[in-house]
Amino acid sequence: MQKNILILDFGSQYTQLIARRVRELNIYCEIKPFNKVPENLSSFKAVILSGSPFSVRHDNAPIPDLKNIKGQLPILAVCYGAQHLVQQHGGSVEASNTREFGRAHLEAIKRDNPLFEGIEEGSQVWMSHSDTIMALPPDAHRIASTEDVKFAAFQFDDEDTYGIQFHPEVYHTTDGLKLLKNFLVKIAKVPQEWTPAKFVDLSVEELKETIGDQKVVLGLSGGVDSSVAAVLLNQAIGDNLYCIFVNNGLLRKNEFDEVLDQYKNMGLNVKGVDASEKFYAALAGVSDPELKRKRIGNAFIEVFDDEAHQIKDVTFLAQGTIYPDVIESVSVNGPSVTIKSHHNVGGLPEYMKLKVVEPLKMLFKDEVRRVGKELGISPKLLGRHPFPGPGLAIRILDDVTPQKVSILQDVDHIFIKALRDWELYDEVWQAGAMLLPVHSVGVMGDERTYEKVVALRAVESTDGMTADWVDLPYKFLQNVSNKIINQVKGVNRVVYDISSKPPSTIEWE
Ligand code: XMP
Repeated sequence: MQKNILILDFGSQYTQLIARRVRELNIYCEIKPFNKVPENLSSFKAVILSGSPFSVRHDNAPIPDLKNIKGQLPILAVCYGAQHLVQQHGGSVEASNTREFGRAHLEAIKRDNPLFEGIEEGSQVWMSHSDTIMALPPDAHRIASTEDVKFAAFQFDDEDTYGIQFHPEVYHTTDGLKLLKNFLVKIAKVPQEWTPAKFVDLSVEELKETIGDQKVVLGLSGGVDSSVAAVLLNQAIGDNLYCIFVNNGLLRKNEFDEVLDQYKNMGLNVKGVDASEKFYAALAGVSDPELKRKRIGNAFIEVFDDEAHQIKDVTFLAQGTIYPDVIESVSVNGPSVTIKSHHNVGGLPEYMKLKVVEPLKMLFKDEVRRVGKELGISPKLLGRHPFPGPGLAIRILDDVTPQKVSILQDVDHIFIKALRDWELYDEVWQAGAMLLPVHSVGVMGDERTYEKVVALRAVESTDGMTADWVDLPYKFLQNVSNKIINQVKGVNRVVYDISSKPPSTIEWE
């Protein structure tokens, strides 16, 4: 696989955003922790140093080994990265006493510097630092300022080493993408060749070579990642790819049959396995969310393992892992506590003794969708909302029974169908319904009812890490609520969740 840009991470929350911007320019890049500079740099054409929550003035400040990089490859150092270079090369960095958070505007731009080609005086940039550069190294010169920040950008003399104290990767830096393009294309001379079509060609070739005529097994989930991985592998090895799609009884209404048909129409060699009863048995009487996840994870492994063993001579296990799952991150606050064990479902035990192949492991989610489109996968499948591996089990508060699943499936179906009918589905990042362990009193005709309460949740987000509730039209909510209460037996009250993440989470369990 081609490698072009190395991004060294100092733990900034924006590092992945830098990578996504670079990829948007159709240039391939990889993120590595600051202390894991690859020995062999021959395939890298330029290096970007990220920002960081650390201060260069502190004892624990991350220090990279740049001896084979600085002066040899073009460098763009952002924020902490820029301050690090200044401090290491004889300049000075101090705590700032002026406002260096938020909007600022570039001035005194050195017009003939290629980094600022096409960027005008006054262009808005986004600052986010509490240290500032007080003096540049003797062999560096200033190339732009802002009202409060004298050394907003600088360059080392006779070297393609640049430092900027603002963040070009964030949306609020108006010409950020232009600046990155100037650095990558004009200065580092990297071709913009990283396209979905190119990725497909290279991957198919690489997969053919790695797998040859061996057999591969893959678990499909109905989601975007495993579907794209399957179609890509199918292009490379055809029917030697054996897909298994397990019905855990916790999917959306009719989803198992519909998605299975879709997969078959896409030409995949797929076997549908209905293991609902096994999952319901494993969940009987379990109300603790983490225990539900564990039980579901274990049941999945058992079913998958059984099925995989029925395929003669299978040697590879394919997974739809994507880049955010594998980026080694720089720990800022030490090991974090487990809030929810998300990646439990589908994690397969080592005893399966299969070699693992992960064809999407260098792609971000939006790139997976673009590759899917290139492969001809239907927009409906590619545009599906994320859905948790443990499915409706973590949307049924308290214990799970087939009856509760059936009620929730009906509620969810009305809600999701209405989102589609009102053309709101694509404006929402994720939506679903929760069945609450609460009964409320109602009245239907002349009768008193005492039935269940459901909560609807719809959020906007980019990656699920933070999310906000969607301001759905009252008319829409009214319509959906009426339909649910009139059509779903056992439910007499509907509420809408107006909590953001954080402090809440998207799922209720
Ligand atoms: P939370 O509830 O943590 O959810 O705000 C963030 C995203 O992760 C999904 N999610 C899961 N996905 N297994 C999964 O595969 C899980 O156990 C799990 N729990 C939450 C959730 O649907 C949302 O997209």
